[in-house]
Amino acid sequence: MGKPIVVFGSFVVDLTGRTDGLPLPGQTILGKSFKMGAGGKGSNQAVAAHRAGADVTLVTKLGNDMLADVALDFYEAEGMCTDYILRDEESATGVALIIVDEATAQNEIVVIPGACNHITRDDVEKCRTLIEQASIILLQHEINADAQSAVIDIAYQAGVQIILNPAPAVEVPGSILSKIDIITPNETEAQVLTGVEVHTYETAERAAQVFLKKGVKNVVITMGAMGAFATDGTRSELVPRIKVDAIDTTGAGDAFNGGFAMALAEGKNLFEALRYGNATGALAVTKTGTAPAMPKREEIEKLLREN
Ligand code: RIB
Repeated sequence: MGKPIVVFGSFVVDLTGRTDGLPLPGQTILGKSFKMGAGGKGSNQAVAAHRAGADVTLVTKLGNDMLADVALDFYEAEGMCTDYILRDEESATGVALIIVDEATAQNEIVVIPGACNHITRDDVEKCRTLIEQASIILLQHEINADAQSAVIDIAYQAGVQIILNPAPAVEVPGSILSKIDIITPNETEAQVLTGVEVHTYETAERAAQVFLKKGVKNVVITMGAMGAFATDGTRSELVPRIKVDAIDTTGAGDAFNGGFAMALAEGKNLFEALRYGNATGALAVTKTGTAPAMPKREEIEKLLREN
């Protein structure tokens, strides 16, 4: 077995209600169903990579409460490594309040990262060897920035490939961007980080140029109905969306990142990996939920063969 992918990110419990529409500010609407399940962008991406066949270690932080069991039970059932699941005595396990509109498959999400906002420099230090020996370190924006930057420094010094999925969108300082090998925003996050409104190949290329100028080595922009764009600075490509019947788009970006990282860890190039990410994202939206909706390797390969 080669070196593992290390996902250093959030676990939160997804509390998901399905409705016939999204409420307006101040409005109460009746929902149709409710589910509680494993979520959080870091955990979702780790699950996606694991189901896609990668050797993955997730580092995340839980509280010492009932909700922590949602994570532990899920990882046990999946056969995932739990050696680096940290615990916080003071803060609660994070939650996400999610509303999925059944008419459009779109969603609204509020994330409360809880314990994932309290990862200390000591916690990161305990993971130093794990980080240094990874093939890829995959990060998002649902843990505290201080921990994130400590992880990036260790990975960068060890020459480990760093993928940053900048979700949810927050400003990223130049000192961090210059250490990133691959940034993977969606079109909204790309706009927040570059100021360029992304809706076509040309605008994706323009946003990518802003990232490249700031020192990011490769740029991947997931563009919803348009597909996914990638550039390494010399070659650029937009892979069209694979058409599926979407019933829940929550976690589509996480599926993309997990499938994409798995393919890179197996030695596929940026553009081949883009296709794996695209197929993984397409399959995830055909099921409800986030982590439980991540597809298995056979399903991804089958969809790629058919398209
Ligand atoms: O990307 C989807 C995820 O975002 C959900 O699982 C929710 O937990 C939020 O973190």
